[in-house]
Amino acid sequence: MAPTRRTLPMGGAAGVAAAAAGAVLMSNWLDTIGLKDESNRFFTALPIPPLLDAREAGNIVRLIAKAGVTEFLPNLETETYGYSAPYLGPVIRVHRGDTVTMDVSNQLDKVTTVHWHGLFVPSELDGGPHNAINPGQTWQPRLKIEQPASTAWFHPHPHGDTGRQVYMGLAGLLYVEDGSAEDLGLPTRYGLDDLPIILQDRSFGPDGELVYDDTPMGIMHGARGDAIIVNGAMGPVAEVPKSVVRLRLVNAANARNFRLEFDDRRPMHVVASDNGFLDSAVAVRELTIAPGERFEVLVDFSNGQTGVLLTYADHNGQFGSEVTQQVRAYLAQMMDIMTPVIRFDPVAEIKPAVNRMPTKLVDLRPAGTLQPPRRRSFSLDSMTAANMPLMQDEGSMQGMDHSQMAGTMDMGAKSGLARGMKMGINGKAFDMNRIDAELKVGDKEIWELRSTEMAHPFHMHGASFRILTLDGAKPAAHLSGWKDTLLVNEHAEILVSFDQPAGPTNPFMFHCHILEHEDAGMMAQYVAV
Ligand code: C2O
Ligand code: CU
Ligand code: CU
Repeated sequence: MAPTRRTLPMGGAAGVAAAAAGAVLMSNWLDTIGLKDESNRFFTALPIPPLLDAREAGNIVRLIAKAGVTEFLPNLETETYGYSAPYLGPVIRVHRGDTVTMDVSNQLDKVTTVHWHGLFVPSELDGGPHNAINPGQTWQPRLKIEQPASTAWFHPHPHGDTGRQVYMGLAGLLYVEDGSAEDLGLPTRYGLDDLPIILQDRSFGPDGELVYDDTPMGIMHGARGDAIIVNGAMGPVAEVPKSVVRLRLVNAANARNFRLEFDDRRPMHVVASDNGFLDSAVAVRELTIAPGERFEVLVDFSNGQTGVLLTYADHNGQFGSEVTQQVRAYLAQMMDIMTPVIRFDPVAEIKPAVNRMPTKLVDLRPAGTLQPPRRRSFSLDSMTAANMPLMQDEGSMQGMDHSQMAGTMDMGAKSGLARGMKMGINGKAFDMNRIDAELKVGDKEIWELRSTEMAHPFHMHGASFRILTLDGAKPAAHLSGWKDTLLVNEHAEILVSFDQPAGPTNPFMFHCHILEHEDAGMMAQYVAV
């Protein structure tokens, strides 16, 4: 029996401001702003974050982490965090060969850090939990950029508060450039045919405030939202030229996997994964992107047809450990409803620049190694049995809707973390004072990863890897390049190249990128000397 897939019909980009006027008193804001009315689904021009070219700024980049106010919903204010902005932050462009000084000040009332996810720098500059920036303080790492062109990003990484701070809005993109995109003839006009696409989901209370679900159940599934936002906007529409457009897809959600597909099934040509260009472009119709992952794709809009990017529902963690991966996937498909993410409108006003799809891209630095590398194995453990009493306690909250849950943001009483919820790697919860793996700079190792109970996006700091096997098979072609984050459904083997130093006072992290899992302890540390 073939599962049926329902696609919600799309409509025009009619304004909804009027409909939203009374939102404050309504508990169901989706209804209120007309998002349940399909004709109103796209109502915001896609915001393009300011581009901050480090070289043009003398290679000094200032970032201020601070609180602000954002209007996601017409006429409704939301308290948020951002980097030099009310929500999210700039796109910072750095150039290979340069040394860039980041000047980060913390104007929040909480300890934060800024981690350069996908930059390869020594651990004391990496922005992990050991690089705390106290309120009112400034941190100035000098980053030597020595890696190939890639789409990286930055976000907070303070011990135990990462999920909440990212959810509040702290994240930004970091483009490493080395001239290869120009040489390859790829689209490079920022905001015109080279678009940042930051994917997130959020829930809002009736008062417009963000609702962060850090209840035991919320931590078990990872914090989700019922609204998808792109670059901080709900219902986004992007105008693009009638030509080939490059989308830099970044999953900056706390927990949600996006499984993307165009409404007309037009192909996405994947040209880059986390740490740079692939050997050649790979055309796919469906693309899964897990929290922390990045893909660059080229999409052809030269026929002038509007394209809507949709995502499947994400049921990761919804079905318990008693069913197999196959059964979970089957159930998920049966329940699938496609949700619109963003609409692209090709317009004549933006001059086309690129009209051909590249095939061959770069020669990938080989992953191979002569000596049989050392193997280690790690299992990503939700430790459900140990957390069961907390989740059962919570039974009374199961029936709550978001209006009842509103305000849980600061309610320590309901927070799973405050009540001692723990997750781990190889059964051990994170300990800032414990080193979990020791190796040498320049080492290559095979790491075997296992997920228990649900799929976990595994991420490593300071190291890049190639996937050898994924759930027992060779990985799909678009997963064949250098990566730092990988969705492990059940099992994976990766060949890791450790090229950056980390001493015992500043170890590198590896962890699940479901941020609630990370905060609950699904994180470990390694040193490389
Ligand atoms: Cu993007 Cu350790 O994180
Ligand atoms: Cu990272
Ligand atoms: Cu996880």
